[in-house]
Amino acid sequence: MINVSVLGYGTVGSGVVEILRENADLIAKRAGEPIQVRSVLDLRDFPGDPVQDIIVHDFEQVRSDEKIDIVVETMGGVHPAYEFVKAALESGKSVCTSNKALVAEYGPELLQTAQEKNVNFLFEASVGGGIPIIRPLKISLAPDEILEISGILNGTTNYILTEMTQNGSDFDSVLKDAQEKGYAEKDPTADVEGYDACRKIAILTSLAYGKQLDFEEIYTEGITKITDRDIAYAKKLGAKVKIFGSSKKTGDRVSAMVAPKLIFPSHPLYSVDGVFNAILVKGNMVGDVMFYGQGAGKLATASAVVSDIIDEAKHVNVNMKTLWDAEKLSLTPLDEVVSKFFVRIKGGKEAAEKAFGAITPVDAGYPDEFAFVTEAVTEGAFAEAAQSLEVINRIRIDG
Ligand code: NDP
Ligand code: HSE
Repeated sequence: MINVSVLGYGTVGSGVVEILRENADLIAKRAGEPIQVRSVLDLRDFPGDPVQDIIVHDFEQVRSDEKIDIVVETMGGVHPAYEFVKAALESGKSVCTSNKALVAEYGPELLQTAQEKNVNFLFEASVGGGIPIIRPLKISLAPDEILEISGILNGTTNYILTEMTQNGSDFDSVLKDAQEKGYAEKDPTADVEGYDACRKIAILTSLAYGKQLDFEEIYTEGITKITDRDIAYAKKLGAKVKIFGSSKKTGDRVSAMVAPKLIFPSHPLYSVDGVFNAILVKGNMVGDVMFYGQGAGKLATASAVVSDIIDEAKHVNVNMKTLWDAEKLSLTPLDEVVSKFFVRIKGGKEAAEKAFGAITPVDAGYPDEFAFVTEAVTEGAFAEAAQSLEVINRIRIDG
């Protein structure tokens, strides 16, 4: 019997308990022995809930319980999640977590502690909700040098952009809907300003290159400046607006960015809508590999967490080494990254051509502004050219 303690009985934590109960028999077969939830730590009580009798409020009760083999952290936030996870590992318990904020900031340290204690620290659910991406990147793609990772990495923002595009819905009401469905972070600023996707691409890129990419180093732009006019222009161009987290290796340098982008029907992620996420990985041997699934939500995310619990149950006293050192991965300066841009300005064609040279105008029927697409330029050159213009908005073009 493997005993588990779940820290945080919210959207994901309650899903973990539900899956362990609903699929108990097949999970026991696959793990090699039954898995039982021995305690649930939360701030609240849950009268009438199946876990009401195993709720605890003091983490020390979890840490000091020698019968607990695996601690599942689904509370969110960096503190006290970090202190609880570190203490659990130091007490010889394996840990799995869905918490990308924790993993992006403390991944190498917690992996090191797990290795020293001969236990495991796994975080499949921290990127892409229910999509298997961490384990494939660590194991299935291990023979390859990773050349590029590009993903729709946040369910809330993809849901918002899809609703705005397909139904003309208003940003605030769709965000409220996403919160009610349990997709959004406690503070949804993390979703809409791109910070959540930033942590996720930092984790994937760190795993791809085995070094720590600090999320603070990644240029990050959210979707709060995307308006119904931007969506109308995108439709006119035959494109969609999606927010991407991406990183790319060119020679021995790596660039990374989180930003909304315009993509066209030929793009492999064009049809990824709603709460779904997808991640495209390019390996130097395997070529393009794509991962697709529900990027947020109770059971999808909990399924990924339970996959880690099963893996840890099968590896008691065996550390599965993850290559992710504390050594820093430095990025190509943003100014050198090249993109095409869709730009809306107050002004006319003459001013746009004076600033950018060859441009392609886009007319979506708004006489009070002028819109155009640039040729491929570096971020530095774009910023310099745009100084002479009154820019209303600009969106990078992928492909
Ligand atoms: P919720 O807010 O729904 O659940 C968190 C739970 O933990 C709440 O019950 C909360 O109590 C409790 N909690 C918070 N702090 C403490 C503490 N110090 N001690 C004990 N309990 C505590 O969050 P989610 O389930 O949505 O998310 C959890 C984590 O999973 C986050 O890191 C999130 O980013 C990640 N994640 C979420 C996904 C989703 O679809 N929701 C998908 C993938 C990852 P209270 O409500 O009283 O604060
Ligand atoms: N808030 C996150 C999202 C949860 O919307 O993608 C999944 O990580």
